[in-house]
Amino acid sequence: MKIVMLTCYDALTATLLADCGIDVFLVGDSVGNVKLGYKNTLPVTMDDMIHHTKAVARGNVGKVKIAADMPYKSYEDNATFAAENAKKLIAAGADYVKLEGGREIMDSVKAIIGAGIKIIGHLGLMPQSIEKIGGYKIQCRDEESRKKLLEDAILLEQAGVSMIVLEGIPEDAAKTVTEKLKIPTIGIGAGRYCGGQVLVSDDMLGMFETFKPKFVKRYANLAGVIKQAAKQYSKEVKEGIFPEEENIYK
Ligand code: KIV
Repeated sequence: MKIVMLTCYDALTATLLADCGIDVFLVGDSVGNVKLGYKNTLPVTMDDMIHHTKAVARGNVGKVKIAADMPYKSYEDNATFAAENAKKLIAAGADYVKLEGGREIMDSVKAIIGAGIKIIGHLGLMPQSIEKIGGYKIQCRDEESRKKLLEDAILLEQAGVSMIVLEGIPEDAAKTVTEKLKIPTIGIGAGRYCGGQVLVSDDMLGMFETFKPKFVKRYANLAGVIKQAAKQYSKEVKEGIFPEEENIYK
């Protein structure tokens, strides 16, 4: 059975989604773009991630596993610092921490696993490297980068990583990695052959009106529903229709 991962950033949504067949809530650093109004994930801090991880853990009545992203500059340069930050996310309620990168972050990966913490890897399109790669572009289109992807995935598996998110890569590249690994891959824009799928909840629920990446399927149109409700509320207040009899204390 495929693994179902979905981003979640707050307590109410965690409670709503607790019994919907989601295996893992990802408290993604996409909270930066999706909820905090940043243009990418780079400004997201450890404090932001702890705050949102605690909220999701409080709302998680169904006891879905929680993965928390380690934000930019919280793990790349210093393995001891990385393990300390990973512990803080676990203390906030996460079952896993997620890190972007392969061979270049191996010291941090080993230090975190050495501290008894489970890791989800993240390869392919890595949003924390957006400035280095020059935008949200599909990765691993050439042989050399596919080879590096596979090598990095194997290194992460050998280091003891529990699963690997593969983002923004051609389906056949994700298939090759998935077939070579014993641990599951979780795809986002990586086609059908991964061991599971992850989407940003606000994408999947249709909260963004203007832009829909090709890999996203909208299962609802919440933007439309929310705007319609707000317009109706505004109209009814202005016209004195709301509050009605049933909304009044006598
Ligand atoms: O932060 C996030 O939402 C993610 C997903 C895109 C996998 O890392």
